[in-house]
Amino acid sequence: MNILVTGGAGYIGSHTCIALLEAGHKIIVADNLCNSKAETVDKIKQITNKEVTFYQIDVTDEKALDYVFSNHSIDGVIHFAGLKSVGESVEKPLEYYYNNLVATMVLCKACRNYGVKKFVFSSSATVYGDNRVPFEEAMKLLPTTNPYGETKTMIERILTDIAKVSQDWSVALLRYFNPVGAHESGLIGEAPNGVPNNLMPYITKVAKGELEKLYIFGDDYPTVDGTGVRDYIHVMDIAEGHVAALDKLTSGVHIYNLGTGEGTSVLQLVKTFEEVNNIEIPYEIVERRTGDIAICYADTSKAKKELGWTTKRGIVEMCRDSWAFKTNYKG
Ligand SMILES: NC(=O)c1ccc[n+]([C@@H]2O[C@H](COP(=O)([O-])OP(=O)(O)OC[C@H]3O[C@@H](n4cnc5c(N)ncnc54)[C@H](O)[C@@H]3O)[C@@H](O)[C@H]2O)c1
Repeated sequence: MNILVTGGAGYIGSHTCIALLEAGHKIIVADNLCNSKAETVDKIKQITNKEVTFYQIDVTDEKALDYVFSNHSIDGVIHFAGLKSVGESVEKPLEYYYNNLVATMVLCKACRNYGVKKFVFSSSATVYGDNRVPFEEAMKLLPTTNPYGETKTMIERILTDIAKVSQDWSVALLRYFNPVGAHESGLIGEAPNGVPNNLMPYITKVAKGELEKLYIFGDDYPTVDGTGVRDYIHVMDIAEGHVAALDKLTSGVHIYNLGTGEGTSVLQLVKTFEEVNNIEIPYEIVERRTGDIAICYADTSKAKKELGWTTKRGIVEMCRDSWAFKTNYKG
């Protein structure tokens, strides 16, 4: 299939491009590079030895997107393009609502105009709010406490409503848990600018001496060691989950959790990173962070049953590959 990948130069998008190309699909990447670099597209070509068509466009720009659709016979879209920082979304709600919602609506209109009916969307476990674990797809969604999370809930609703009246649309809403790690080549991975919001990029910056120590937000949660528990998933497993979803997509809306089904505490992740890479990570326990929940992990049985997809990589590979990318990366 010819797949349009919005946000394909970003962290999860670039790894998914590799999985798509390796599965025999052709890809067209549309990304405005607001949080990524064009050289990542070259790395995708280098790793796979395959062609990638790239458009540096903003997905909110109707004319630019129309140009892309008119130039290619697109069979399906995977929509990663969006702003993703929880903290920044609280500071800049308008930018987040505008970018994430308008990009999705413009993309849906282009799909309608050009008869594209397969749509895979990057949602997030954040839509579950503070539900009981493990999170199941059928659960009633709870408020997310931040504009970023609300955009995910709203986009899920928009796509569900469109699919209700356009019965030949096939939509997959993929709720990612905590993607970490990097492609095993060490050529692409997560490289946020400045101080990272996520744990693994923070750990690798401390490991490299770019930050002095890791701050752990709270050690008094009702968990194994008091630190927050998350379902970390290797980014290549997430990438392969997209290929599985695309291959199995049938009409209607299908929601899948992409996680491992296992929770790991912050301290467990830090200890594994230290052991796997033989590096000490200095840390300090500080106050809890507003909006953080204690425990979050997925029920993964639906994706396993319907998509035949399960994760193949564990915490050890996540720590190894994140560090390999960090030591390799010049940026
Ligand atoms: N990384 C996570 O922990 C996580 C978890 C759950 C869901 N998600 C979602 O997955 C998607 C990809 O996340 P990521 O971690 O790869 O983020 P990322 O920032 O690395 O990738 C997003 C890409 O979209 C591009 N982009 C943003 N707005 C755009 C626009 N209007 N037009 C064109 N391009 C635009 C950026 O330049 C970037 O390359 C996002 O929608 C994010 O919300 C991420």
